[in-house]
Amino acid sequence: MKKVLVTGGAGFIGSHTVVELHEAGYTPVIVDNFCNSHPDVLDGIATILGHSPIHHNIDCTDEQAMRGVFAKEGPFVGVIHFAAFKAVGASVNDPLSYYRNNVHATEILLRIMSELDCTNLVFSSSCTVYGQPKQLPVTEQTAFQHANSPYGYTKQVCERIIQDVVAAPSSATSAVLLRYFNPIGAHPSGAIGELPIGVPENLIPYITQTAAGKRKEIVIFGDDYETSDGTCVRDYIHVVDLAKAHVAALHWLTGKSNVCDSFNLGTGEGNTVKEVIDTFVEATGTQVPHRIGDRRPGDVEKIWASATKAQEELGWKTTLSLKTALIDAWNWQQKLEEQ
Ligand code: UFG
Repeated sequence: MKKVLVTGGAGFIGSHTVVELHEAGYTPVIVDNFCNSHPDVLDGIATILGHSPIHHNIDCTDEQAMRGVFAKEGPFVGVIHFAAFKAVGASVNDPLSYYRNNVHATEILLRIMSELDCTNLVFSSSCTVYGQPKQLPVTEQTAFQHANSPYGYTKQVCERIIQDVVAAPSSATSAVLLRYFNPIGAHPSGAIGELPIGVPENLIPYITQTAAGKRKEIVIFGDDYETSDGTCVRDYIHVVDLAKAHVAALHWLTGKSNVCDSFNLGTGEGNTVKEVIDTFVEATGTQVPHRIGDRRPGDVEKIWASATKAQEELGWKTTLSLKTALIDAWNWQQKLEEQ
């Protein structure tokens, strides 16, 4: 049995990755304390897998409990580390929680992995490490800009910690740093998807909740940017494509030792906020009331990925369109409304 430890496996990207690991013949072992996810996600995963996934309700900063998971479930052929806080604004208000949950948990995981000769780590990073890049598209060589938020800094710091651990003379650890662009969509089955707690911060759940009538309107954060229609540009990637990249990363790590490399995970194309709303309306036939508001502090104007390196080295590329992602997100929202 090829077991893979998946921290944060009940989260949005984590849950879809658990499904893809299963499809690829791995046995995922989830560690998640539901601090930013919902236990129902495990039922959704079970619907797709045909059985309940292995799960431990544990805080990744609890070193003893994490050691217990390795002792009970190990050995693991790899670890995929998603568990982290991810809200830019919240990190400004409560930086220490971010340093503890994102940085300290990563350090604990690396220490346990090193001691137990568990050598393959896939780390959940973000295009936030680039800030507002000076050149587009962003390649993996693009220089990091000063991190605008504690959240962004935790991703930069964790990448550096992992690189240092891999480079240590006695180390056997290998790692892949996956820099996500904007993950959206849901599993086509409608069994799992994005489950924001409270008012959504991200664009797509805000669109689907507005379309469903749960919110009056969506405010577009600024239309005076230097872009084709004045609204910000992002590289939106279907979460199922993104999940499959983690399987490709595990395959890439197999048989390698003492390597650490980073990969952008995006489509290679950017869309404006207005384009996303228009595509949603066109694809679903459902209106999304919206108006233009002020810019959101901290937003970068435009960013999209060069996805070439992931294609050449991981043998992975996106196959699902923006339209498909929006239809799947809408399908998921409608399932939620039925509950
Ligand atoms: N937007 C709106 N109205 C909304 C919500 C979002 O206009 O109600 C716009 C934003 O201004 C932005 C775009 O939609 O232009 C996408 O916003 P998201 O919040 O969905 O995504 P971000 O690109 O801001 O954030 C993502 C991740 C973060 C990560 C960040 C790095 O969700 O975790 O990229 O840049 F930190």
